[in-house]
Amino acid sequence: MPAELACFEERCRARFPITDVLYNCPRCGGLLEAVYGKPAQASDQLKKLWRERRASNAPLDQSGVWRYREFIPFLDDYAGVVTLREGCTPLLPAPKAAAYGGLGSLSFKHQGFNPTGSFKDNGMTCGAAQAVRLGMKRVACVSTGNTSASMAAYASAAGLQPIIFIPHGNIAFGKLAQALEYGAKTVQVEANFDQILALVRRLAERLGIYLLNSINPFRIEGQKTIMAEMLDQRDWQVPDWVVLPGGNLGNTSAFGKGLRELKEWGFIDRLPRLAVIQAEGAAPFYDLVHSPDRSRLHPVAHPETLATAIKIGDPVSWPKALYEVCTSGGVVEKVSEQEIADAKSIIGLCGIGCEPASGATLAGIRKLTRAGIIKKDSDVVAVLTGNVLKDPNYIHDYHTGRLQDPCGRRIVANFGNPPVVFPNDGDAIAEFIGS
Ligand code: F0G
Repeated sequence: MPAELACFEERCRARFPITDVLYNCPRCGGLLEAVYGKPAQASDQLKKLWRERRASNAPLDQSGVWRYREFIPFLDDYAGVVTLREGCTPLLPAPKAAAYGGLGSLSFKHQGFNPTGSFKDNGMTCGAAQAVRLGMKRVACVSTGNTSASMAAYASAAGLQPIIFIPHGNIAFGKLAQALEYGAKTVQVEANFDQILALVRRLAERLGIYLLNSINPFRIEGQKTIMAEMLDQRDWQVPDWVVLPGGNLGNTSAFGKGLRELKEWGFIDRLPRLAVIQAEGAAPFYDLVHSPDRSRLHPVAHPETLATAIKIGDPVSWPKALYEVCTSGGVVEKVSEQEIADAKSIIGLCGIGCEPASGATLAGIRKLTRAGIIKKDSDVVAVLTGNVLKDPNYIHDYHTGRLQDPCGRRIVANFGNPPVVFPNDGDAIAEFIGS
């Protein structure tokens, strides 16, 4: 079966050509997804081929996304693909974090090792390839920072004009700096993420600009490969849990779809359970999953969290994410600013580090093991979504005891490690360091 776009809504499931420029179903307004038939090769053959490609110097094979191209077969040819060698991110055992989270062992799939420092690169190489295939000249997104950094890089590399929209004063400086450096036309709008997304959707249609937010189904295809690569690195041993932070819920949708397809196509024999972690001040998905009526998400009008990457009150992909959490027997948890900050610093003490949104994963694991939902001996993979250098101000404020939550309450630096200022006095410094 050739690749098609399909409406995600069970009652509709309308199909459209893969080259239609669509973000929602024209019939019912539902979310769209890319659909394919089962790959021609058997799963064992593909596992072998994908492993062999790791030794190849061909650009597509060096990409941790396009290495798995039989798993995301939406292109007819690969001439328009721009790869910055995205993916290829490590799976790192983290004993200190495991102990803190109440687990015997834990590994982090660290997407912060990507070319622009977040998991967005996995999706963006696919979104940019589709933009090139469609003959688009300009691409746009609204972003809490990482999508814009990634889109700016991939669009510029592909010869497309990147235009980004960001909530004024609400993104980490490292991310804004990246967008400027990669040459994006940068619009800082005095509104929040959800309001700007509505605006950008209207502008994209009016000006014929291709939209590369995670509502774009090709981004989701690329992000699926995070699960394929993680399983490949584990020799296809399925973990009990995959834990990830939730904002706009594109990643939850991508991981769920990817894992289901890998099961359907015989790569794995069971699904891991998904645990999605939100920040307390921006937790509409948590509220939805814990409400008796799951038919409609109630947006949080003024989302608040220092983990700005997940400061989203009206996540567009919630219907897909809800389906994936339910299908995998998953859970949704929420964590406080203090819990995020402490968990993040423990990840730092493992020598790994991450940005605040990613710290929510370990905070969530700690809460879920304490509640007996994740068992101590469970096999858990947590996905760290962004690099430690994305938000250095947060880190400095935490360690120097200056970090305040959005309500102005001081966050306690339980694992603080402030720098110490000395005069140029060797004896005093030697005394401080100790013998
Ligand atoms: N972690 C990081 C570091 C992110 O940048 C994001 C999303 C998420 C987690 C949440 O992922 O939206 O798929 O649930 N950042 C988007 C952006 C919204 O604009 O960069 P999600």
